[in-house]
Amino acid sequence: MRVLISGAGIAGPSLAWFLAKSGAKVTTVEKAQCILPHGQNIDIQGSARKVIKKMGLVDEILRFNTTEKGTQLIDPKGRPFAPFPVQKGNSGSMSFTSEFEILRGDLAAVFYKATRNHPNVTYLFDTTVKQVISNDTEGQCVKVELSNGEVQTYDLLVLSDGQWSKLRKSCFPAETVKVVDKDMFAVYWTIPRIPTDNDWWNIYAALGRRLVSLRPDPYGTIRAMFTRMPLNEAHRQEWFTAARGDRKTQEALLRKEFTDAGWQAQRLLDSIPTAPDFYFQAMQQIKMTKWSTGRIVCLGDTAYAPTPLTGMGTSLAINGAYVLAGELSKLEEGEHPSKAFERYESLFRPFVEEQQKVPSLLPGFVHPNGAGHRFLISIMGSALSKVVRTPWLISRLVGILFDDADGDDFPLPRYKAFEDEETMEGGGEVDSRV
Ligand SMILES: Cc1cc2nc3c(=O)[nH]c(=O)nc-3n(C[C@H](O)[C@H](O)[C@H](O)COP(=O)(O)OP(=O)(O)OC[C@H]3O[C@@H](n4cnc5c(N)ncnc54)[C@H](O)[C@@H]3O)c2cc1C
Ligand SMILES: *[C@@H]1O[C@H](CO)[C@@H](O)[C@H](O)[C@H]1NC(C)=O
Ligand SMILES: *[C@@H]1O[C@H](CO)[C@@H](O)[C@H](O)[C@H]1NC(C)=O
Ligand SMILES: *[C@@H]1O[C@H](CO)[C@@H](O)[C@H](O)[C@H]1NC(C)=O
Repeated sequence: MRVLISGAGIAGPSLAWFLAKSGAKVTTVEKAQCILPHGQNIDIQGSARKVIKKMGLVDEILRFNTTEKGTQLIDPKGRPFAPFPVQKGNSGSMSFTSEFEILRGDLAAVFYKATRNHPNVTYLFDTTVKQVISNDTEGQCVKVELSNGEVQTYDLLVLSDGQWSKLRKSCFPAETVKVVDKDMFAVYWTIPRIPTDNDWWNIYAALGRRLVSLRPDPYGTIRAMFTRMPLNEAHRQEWFTAARGDRKTQEALLRKEFTDAGWQAQRLLDSIPTAPDFYFQAMQQIKMTKWSTGRIVCLGDTAYAPTPLTGMGTSLAINGAYVLAGELSKLEEGEHPSKAFERYESLFRPFVEEQQKVPSLLPGFVHPNGAGHRFLISIMGSALSKVVRTPWLISRLVGILFDDADGDDFPLPRYKAFEDEETMEGGGEVDSRV
């Protein structure tokens, strides 16, 4: 099977890993010159950790841990309170930092390094799919023209080029792709560390629906973030205009709106002009009525971006790659891939839909507008923080709040192609769950 993957972020290289293991020949095109180092802390949750384990990459990922000690809130005088330290072990632990936390760029690089030397995997950087010439008619294959001028044919094409995939636009009618706005904007960048910085994720709620946060990374710099919920419709439009605009416009808006935010907001504003990795984002989800057409299938953010609000973007990309590759590995010689696409979607869609449910009041709750609301958050934060530091109480709470406290959120199907002989019971029961 010859597979073309568009996009080498998180989903693309993890798919390449499993496809290569099942004997496919994989070409990945990536628009950037190299694996993009951008992005902040992401967490690998639940079943995605089992997938990482199957790939043998657990130690590598722990090695790139963010060194974050936990999460704490900052009061209006700049003093930390309500600490939530990292809890080792299962993902049911109630902390906002986990030991499986890694920078997005580091994770992409780990997956890339684990696949780049495989004889059946090729990466083409600075390359895109210029057009799909035919998708399922001529000789039962996808024919594409690449940006380097080559015309190639593959058995299938996977779109994993992110939330704003241009290829998705050209392959799927607009009415089948829904963009769901979450009424929130986020801005991320990296700043120099100063002696008073610490290794916690520090979150300060400025009034007027603004958050300021600072977190450590393993490179001796600090990852800064502003988030903002608009106050009314005109304000929302102003932020959308900036999101679509250039960096100058975005900087001017931030300066106007965060200068009076308090705590370290001024330091953050001053550092924007020299930031190497400034990233301004409207929080929007992607929902498609169907993830595939003919021999073309969508994976990761392209198909179901959940927004960083859910903390699940990476885990969905990894679990999705595992299921898609697994279903493809079950195809008989010459069988149409749409059969695997259908199985991938029917197995995985219910989980995706569950993860895309952001409680509608949550963003508003954590972005207080007035002082009374902020006071309420601080009381609740302090109380919860004390509960979390009492181990027997956590295990009770986790048991009550989550059905499955050991973090097995998506029951991974088993695939013969990915099981080492000795772990496979009954020799070939490919459909039983792990
Ligand atoms: C720069 C960046 C920073 C991010 N930062 C965060 C963060 O801080 N926190 C968070 O929770 N999530 C972040 N995300 C989103 C997160 O990576 C995804 O939610 C999740 O990991 C799913 O990954 P993905 O592989 O589907 O998509 P992505 O990680 O978005 O990867 C898509 C890849 O496709 C490439 N690409 C784009 N267009 C084309 C094209 N036409 N042809 C070929 N390749 C193309 C991109 O360069 C990128 O490498 C970030 C994404 C990006 C791209
Ligand atoms: C976490 O990262 C730190 C700093 O990079 C490193 O010293 C430590 O060994 C890492 N932890 C693990 C478990 O690999
Ligand atoms: C590469 O693919 C070929 C089939 O195209 C297969 O025979 C070979 O075993 C694969 N190599 C590896 C290392 O998986
Ligand atoms: C796929 O092929 C069909 C039939 O030739 C065509 O109508 C459709 O536009 C093609 N889609 C893409 C994305 O090329």
